[in-house]
Amino acid sequence: MQNLFLSLFLFASFSSSVFGDCTWPNSTDTANHWWQNPSSIFTIYSLTTTNEQSQQEYPIHLGAPLVAVLNATNTGPVISQLQEDIALAEWDPNNCKWNTLPTFGLLNNLNGCTNGIACPIPQGNQVLKVTIDFSKFQAIIGLLKNDAPYQLQITLTNKATGDKIVVTAQARAEIH
Ligand SMILES: *[C@@H]1O[C@H](CO)[C@@H](O)[C@H](O)[C@H]1NC(C)=O
Ligand SMILES: *[C@@H]1O[C@H](CO)[C@@H](O)[C@H](O)[C@H]1NC(C)=O
Repeated sequence: MQNLFLSLFLFASFSSSVFGDCTWPNSTDTANHWWQNPSSIFTIYSLTTTNEQSQQEYPIHLGAPLVAVLNATNTGPVISQLQEDIALAEWDPNNCKWNTLPTFGLLNNLNGCTNGIACPIPQGNQVLKVTIDFSKFQAIIGLLKNDAPYQLQITLTNKATGDKIVVTAQARAEIH
């Protein structure tokens, strides 16, 4: 009898780790999940995403331009030169981990001010829009599975001071 309970218990823990947490990490099946690395000069209070027509949609669509809308406070200097680096990962539900996808250097060392961010970024509390457009990178789009969890880690570097703003967002995404 004890063994039966033990087996049921083990089976229950096994199923929840395989079929529960592992399918959609951080409940990305129903909503996006994001966090910011600690920063003394820039704090993000909220992050939502819309399509180019300012409509909120979930799942997001990575094959079309995506707008991240941030409520943020810049307590550092005005930012007028911005480097943008984006790392993209896809979820592996079999091993319960994120795998970094190759981006062929297309998403590194971008000029943030000409790639979807309106510069300069003033001081103080503001709504900041960041447009992310993978549709021009078909080499990347071609690697993506439809309706799966993806993780984007965006690093913005103030070129004048070297300060970094790092945001990680996870979302369920459709491709087309
Ligand atoms: C879920 O989100 C937390 C931050 O809220 C993060 O530390 C953790 O790594 C995420 N889990 C996965 C599987 O991505
Ligand atoms: C950011 O969110 C806070 C708290 O909800 C709100 O008081 C503030 O007005 C928002 N800022 C902007 C620029 O919308």
